[in-house]
Amino acid sequence: MSEIINGKEIAKSLKEGLAAKVVELNEKYGRTPNLVVILVGDDPGSVSYVTGKAKAANEVGIRNTTLRFPVTISEDELLAKVEELNADTDVDGILVQLPLPKHIDENKVIATISIDKDVDAFSPMSVARLWLKQPTIVPCTPNGIIKLLKSTGIEISGKEAVVIGRSNIVGLPVAKLLLDENATVTIAHSRTRNLAEVARRADILVVAIGRERLVTADMIKPGAVVIDVGVNRDTRNGKLCGDVDYENAKEVAAYITPVPGGVGPMTIACLMENTVENFIKKVEK
Ligand code: GUN
Repeated sequence: MSEIINGKEIAKSLKEGLAAKVVELNEKYGRTPNLVVILVGDDPGSVSYVTGKAKAANEVGIRNTTLRFPVTISEDELLAKVEELNADTDVDGILVQLPLPKHIDENKVIATISIDKDVDAFSPMSVARLWLKQPTIVPCTPNGIIKLLKSTGIEISGKEAVVIGRSNIVGLPVAKLLLDENATVTIAHSRTRNLAEVARRADILVVAIGRERLVTADMIKPGAVVIDVGVNRDTRNGKLCGDVDYENAKEVAAYITPVPGGVGPMTIACLMENTVENFIKKVEK
Protein backbone atom coordinates (compact mmCIF):
# COMPACT_ATOMS: atom_id res chain seq x y z
CA MET A 1 0.00 0.00 0.00
CA SER A 2 1.51 3.29 -1.12
CA GLU A 3 1.86 6.60 0.48
CA ILE A 4 0.22 9.12 -1.88
CA ILE A 5 2.49 12.04 -2.77
CA ASN A 6 0.27 15.08 -2.35
CA GLY A 7 1.46 17.40 -5.12
CA LYS A 8 -1.31 19.86 -4.45
CA GLU A 9 -0.20 20.33 -0.84
CA ILE A 10 3.51 20.56 -1.68
CA ALA A 11 2.75 23.07 -4.46
CA LYS A 12 0.67 25.11 -2.01
CA SER A 13 3.51 25.39 0.45
CA LEU A 14 5.96 26.34 -2.34
CA LYS A 15 3.54 29.06 -3.50
CA GLU A 16 3.11 30.37 0.06
CA GLY A 17 6.88 30.76 0.37
CA LEU A 18 6.96 32.60 -2.96
CA ALA A 19 4.09 34.89 -1.93
CA ALA A 20 6.07 35.97 1.15
CA LYS A 21 9.12 36.54 -1.05
CA VAL A 22 7.08 38.68 -3.47
CA VAL A 23 5.89 40.89 -0.58
CA GLU A 24 9.51 41.34 0.48
CA LEU A 25 10.60 42.15 -3.09
CA ASN A 26 7.81 44.67 -3.47
CA GLU A 27 8.90 46.44 -0.27
CA LYS A 28 12.49 46.52 -1.47
CA TYR A 29 12.07 47.34 -5.17
CA GLY A 30 8.59 48.90 -5.36
CA ARG A 31 7.22 46.45 -7.90
CA THR A 32 6.22 42.82 -8.26
CA PRO A 33 7.21 40.28 -10.94
CA ASN A 34 5.19 40.44 -14.15
CA LEU A 35 4.38 37.34 -16.23
CA VAL A 36 2.86 37.44 -19.72
CA VAL A 37 1.29 34.26 -21.08
CA ILE A 38 0.48 33.94 -24.78
CA LEU A 39 -2.33 31.60 -25.79
CA VAL A 40 -3.10 30.97 -29.46
CA GLY A 41 -6.45 29.38 -30.27
CA ASP A 42 -8.88 27.78 -27.87
CA ASP A 43 -7.78 24.17 -27.36
CA PRO A 44 -9.52 23.20 -24.09
CA GLY A 45 -6.36 21.60 -22.61
CA SER A 46 -4.32 24.75 -23.26
CA VAL A 47 -7.09 27.04 -21.96
CA SER A 48 -7.21 25.00 -18.76
CA TYR A 49 -3.40 25.15 -18.30
CA VAL A 50 -3.35 28.90 -18.87
CA THR A 51 -6.22 29.45 -16.43
CA GLY A 52 -4.30 27.45 -13.81
CA LYS A 53 -1.20 29.56 -14.37
CA ALA A 54 -3.13 32.83 -13.95
CA LYS A 55 -4.77 31.56 -10.75
CA ALA A 56 -1.40 30.53 -9.27
CA ALA A 57 0.18 33.85 -10.25
CA ASN A 58 -2.63 35.69 -8.47
CA GLU A 59 -2.12 33.57 -5.35
CA VAL A 60 1.59 34.37 -5.31
CA GLY A 61 1.10 38.09 -6.06
CA ILE A 62 2.71 37.92 -9.49
CA ARG A 63 1.15 40.38 -11.92
CA ASN A 64 0.01 38.48 -14.96
CA THR A 65 -1.66 38.95 -18.29
CA THR A 66 -2.90 36.34 -20.72
CA LEU A 67 -2.76 37.53 -24.31
CA ARG A 68 -5.16 35.51 -26.43
CA PHE A 69 -4.79 35.35 -30.19
CA PRO A 70 -6.98 33.66 -32.79
CA VAL A 71 -5.72 30.44 -34.31
CA THR A 72 -5.29 32.36 -37.58
CA ILE A 73 -2.52 34.65 -36.26
CA SER A 74 0.50 34.53 -38.58
CA GLU A 75 3.96 33.46 -37.49
CA ASP A 76 5.30 36.95 -38.20
CA GLU A 77 2.63 38.58 -36.05
CA LEU A 78 3.35 36.21 -33.18
CA LEU A 79 7.11 36.74 -33.47
CA ALA A 80 6.57 40.51 -33.49
CA LYS A 81 4.52 40.21 -30.28
CA VAL A 82 7.27 38.20 -28.57
CA GLU A 83 9.88 40.77 -29.68
CA GLU A 84 7.71 43.56 -28.26
CA LEU A 85 7.51 41.75 -24.90
CA ASN A 86 11.28 41.09 -24.96
CA ALA A 87 11.82 44.84 -25.24
CA ASP A 88 9.32 45.76 -22.51
CA THR A 89 11.36 46.35 -19.34
CA ASP A 90 8.24 45.90 -17.19
CA VAL A 91 7.84 42.25 -18.35
CA ASP A 92 9.87 39.69 -16.39
CA GLY A 93 8.58 36.39 -17.77
CA ILE A 94 7.17 35.33 -21.16
CA LEU A 95 5.43 32.01 -21.73
CA VAL A 96 4.01 30.85 -25.04
CA GLN A 97 1.55 28.03 -24.43
CA LEU A 98 2.27 24.96 -26.56
CA PRO A 99 1.27 23.41 -28.87
CA LEU A 100 0.99 26.15 -31.48
CA PRO A 101 -1.03 25.76 -34.70
CA LYS A 102 0.77 23.84 -37.47
CA HIS A 103 1.42 26.91 -39.65
CA ILE A 104 3.62 28.42 -36.92
CA ASP A 105 7.15 27.14 -36.35
CA GLU A 106 7.17 26.41 -32.63
CA ASN A 107 10.97 26.22 -32.47
CA LYS A 108 11.31 29.64 -34.03
CA VAL A 109 8.89 31.18 -31.53
CA ILE A 110 10.58 29.56 -28.52
CA ALA A 111 14.02 30.65 -29.74
CA THR A 112 12.79 34.24 -30.06
CA ILE A 113 11.91 34.55 -26.35
CA SER A 114 14.71 36.44 -24.58
CA ILE A 115 16.66 34.00 -22.37
CA ASP A 116 16.25 36.38 -19.41
CA LYS A 117 12.46 36.03 -19.70
CA ASP A 118 12.26 32.34 -20.66
CA VAL A 119 10.36 31.06 -17.60
CA ASP A 120 9.63 27.68 -19.25
CA ALA A 121 13.37 27.10 -19.88
CA PHE A 122 12.48 25.70 -23.32
CA SER A 123 14.74 27.99 -25.39
CA PRO A 124 17.81 26.36 -26.99
CA MET A 125 20.11 28.50 -24.85
CA SER A 126 18.34 27.49 -21.62
CA VAL A 127 18.50 23.81 -22.65
CA ALA A 128 22.20 24.13 -23.50
CA ARG A 129 22.94 25.73 -20.15
CA LEU A 130 21.16 22.88 -18.34
CA TRP A 131 23.08 20.14 -20.18
CA LEU A 132 26.39 21.99 -19.87
CA LYS A 133 25.87 22.34 -16.09
CA GLN A 134 25.89 26.13 -16.28
CA PRO A 135 23.72 28.26 -13.96
CA THR A 136 20.20 28.42 -15.38
CA ILE A 137 16.57 28.12 -14.49
CA VAL A 138 15.22 24.57 -14.66
CA PRO A 139 12.20 23.46 -16.73
CA CYS A 140 9.08 23.37 -14.57
CA THR A 141 7.77 19.79 -14.78
CA PRO A 142 11.20 18.11 -14.31
CA ASN A 143 11.97 20.49 -11.45
CA GLY A 144 8.60 19.73 -9.85
CA ILE A 145 9.26 15.98 -10.12
CA ILE A 146 12.60 16.27 -8.31
CA LYS A 147 10.91 18.30 -5.56
CA LEU A 148 8.20 15.61 -5.20
CA LEU A 149 10.85 12.87 -4.96
CA LYS A 150 12.72 14.86 -2.31
CA SER A 151 9.50 15.40 -0.36
CA THR A 152 9.33 11.65 0.30
CA GLY A 153 12.70 11.74 2.06
CA ILE A 154 14.05 8.90 -0.11
CA GLU A 155 17.67 9.08 -1.20
CA ILE A 156 17.92 9.55 -4.99
CA SER A 157 21.68 9.04 -5.11
CA GLY A 158 22.67 5.51 -6.18
CA LYS A 159 19.11 4.50 -7.13
CA GLU A 160 18.01 2.95 -10.42
CA ALA A 161 15.73 5.46 -12.13
CA VAL A 162 13.76 4.58 -15.26
CA VAL A 163 12.16 7.38 -17.25
CA ILE A 164 9.56 6.24 -19.78
CA GLY A 165 9.34 9.05 -22.34
CA ARG A 166 11.93 11.15 -24.16
CA SER A 167 10.20 14.44 -24.90
CA ASN A 168 12.05 17.74 -24.78
CA ILE A 169 9.61 19.02 -22.15
CA VAL A 170 9.69 16.13 -19.65
CA GLY A 171 11.55 12.88 -20.44
CA LEU A 172 14.95 14.20 -21.48
CA PRO A 173 15.32 16.98 -18.87
CA VAL A 174 14.01 14.88 -15.97
CA ALA A 175 16.51 12.15 -16.89
CA LYS A 176 19.27 14.79 -16.80
CA LEU A 177 18.17 16.10 -13.39
CA LEU A 178 18.01 12.55 -11.97
CA LEU A 179 21.53 11.98 -13.29
CA ASP A 180 22.65 15.18 -11.55
CA GLU A 181 21.20 13.71 -8.32
CA ASN A 182 23.47 10.67 -8.89
CA ALA A 183 20.74 8.21 -9.87
CA THR A 184 21.62 5.64 -12.55
CA VAL A 185 19.20 6.52 -15.32
CA THR A 186 17.60 4.49 -18.12
CA ILE A 187 15.50 6.32 -20.70
CA ALA A 188 12.82 4.04 -22.13
CA HIS A 189 10.04 4.90 -24.55
CA SER A 190 7.01 3.56 -26.34
CA ARG A 191 9.19 1.41 -28.60
CA THR A 192 11.37 -0.07 -25.88
CA ARG A 193 11.37 -3.85 -26.13
CA ASN A 194 10.46 -5.59 -22.87
CA LEU A 195 9.22 -2.32 -21.37
CA ALA A 196 7.75 -4.24 -18.43
CA GLU A 197 11.11 -5.79 -17.62
CA VAL A 198 12.94 -2.46 -17.89
CA ALA A 199 10.32 -0.69 -15.75
CA ARG A 200 10.53 -3.39 -13.06
CA ARG A 201 14.21 -2.50 -12.47
CA ALA A 202 13.24 0.97 -11.31
CA ASP A 203 13.52 2.18 -7.74
CA ILE A 204 12.24 5.44 -9.19
CA LEU A 205 9.85 5.19 -12.14
CA VAL A 206 8.85 8.35 -14.04
CA VAL A 207 6.22 7.87 -16.73
CA ALA A 208 5.54 10.58 -19.33
CA ILE A 209 4.01 9.07 -22.45
CA GLY A 210 0.35 10.13 -22.48
CA ARG A 211 -1.39 6.77 -22.68
CA GLU A 212 -3.83 5.59 -20.05
CA ARG A 213 -2.87 2.40 -18.17
CA LEU A 214 0.46 2.09 -20.03
CA VAL A 215 2.06 1.08 -16.74
CA THR A 216 0.32 -1.76 -14.95
CA ALA A 217 0.99 -2.99 -11.41
CA ASP A 218 3.09 -5.95 -12.63
CA MET A 219 5.57 -3.47 -14.20
CA ILE A 220 6.37 -1.89 -10.83
CA LYS A 221 9.05 -3.11 -8.46
CA PRO A 222 7.56 -3.51 -4.99
CA GLY A 223 8.57 -0.47 -2.93
CA ALA A 224 9.34 1.75 -5.92
CA VAL A 225 8.49 5.46 -6.13
CA VAL A 226 6.16 6.07 -9.08
CA ILE A 227 5.80 9.52 -10.65
CA ASP A 228 2.98 9.75 -13.19
CA VAL A 229 3.27 12.69 -15.59
CA GLY A 230 0.50 11.54 -17.94
CA VAL A 231 -2.66 13.56 -18.42
CA ASN A 232 -5.32 11.54 -20.25
CA ARG A 233 -9.05 11.04 -20.30
CA ASP A 234 -10.08 7.67 -18.87
CA THR A 235 -12.00 5.98 -21.69
CA ARG A 236 -14.08 4.09 -19.09
CA ASN A 237 -15.53 7.14 -17.32
CA GLY A 238 -14.23 10.32 -19.02
CA LYS A 239 -12.32 11.38 -15.90
CA LEU A 240 -8.76 12.72 -15.90
CA CYS A 241 -6.19 9.97 -15.47
CA GLY A 242 -2.45 9.41 -15.80
CA ASP A 243 -0.32 6.80 -17.58
CA VAL A 244 -0.28 4.43 -14.61
CA ASP A 245 -3.03 2.03 -13.59
CA TYR A 246 -3.25 3.92 -10.30
CA GLU A 247 -5.72 1.74 -8.38
CA ASN A 248 -3.58 -1.40 -8.77
CA ALA A 249 -0.18 0.31 -8.82
CA LYS A 250 -0.73 1.88 -5.41
CA GLU A 251 -0.85 -1.59 -3.89
CA VAL A 252 2.73 -2.23 -5.08
CA ALA A 253 4.58 1.11 -4.98
CA ALA A 254 5.92 2.69 -1.78
CA TYR A 255 5.03 6.19 -3.02
CA ILE A 256 2.89 7.25 -5.96
CA THR A 257 1.60 10.51 -7.43
CA PRO A 258 -2.12 10.79 -8.26
CA VAL A 259 -3.55 12.37 -11.43
CA PRO A 260 -4.86 14.99 -10.95
CA GLY A 261 -3.13 16.43 -7.87
CA GLY A 262 0.40 15.10 -8.35
CA VAL A 263 2.84 16.53 -10.87
CA GLY A 264 0.44 19.09 -12.44
CA PRO A 265 0.24 21.52 -9.52
CA MET A 266 4.03 21.30 -9.09
CA THR A 267 4.66 22.34 -12.71
CA ILE A 268 2.66 25.50 -12.14
CA ALA A 269 4.27 26.24 -8.75
CA CYS A 270 7.72 25.83 -10.32
CA LEU A 271 6.71 28.23 -13.09
CA MET A 272 5.95 30.79 -10.39
CA GLU A 273 9.34 30.09 -8.83
CA ASN A 274 11.09 30.65 -12.18
CA THR A 275 9.22 33.93 -12.67
CA VAL A 276 10.30 35.17 -9.23
CA GLU A 277 13.88 33.99 -9.87
CA ASN A 278 14.07 35.82 -13.20
CA PHE A 279 12.73 38.96 -11.53
CA ILE A 280 15.32 38.75 -8.76
CA LYS A 281 18.12 38.28 -11.28
CA LYS A 282 16.94 41.39 -13.11
CA VAL A 283 16.43 43.74 -10.15
CA GLU A 284 19.55 42.65 -8.29
CA LYS A 285 21.80 42.98 -11.35
N1 GUN B 1 1.99 22.85 -22.91
C1 GUN B 1 1.90 21.81 -22.05
N2 GUN B 1 2.74 22.01 -20.99
C2 GUN B 1 3.34 23.19 -21.19
C3 GUN B 1 4.29 23.94 -20.45
O1 GUN B 1 4.78 23.56 -19.38
N3 GUN B 1 4.65 25.13 -21.00
C4 GUN B 1 4.15 25.57 -22.18
N4 GUN B 1 4.58 26.74 -22.63
N5 GUN B 1 3.28 24.90 -22.89
C5 GUN B 1 2.88 23.71 -22.39
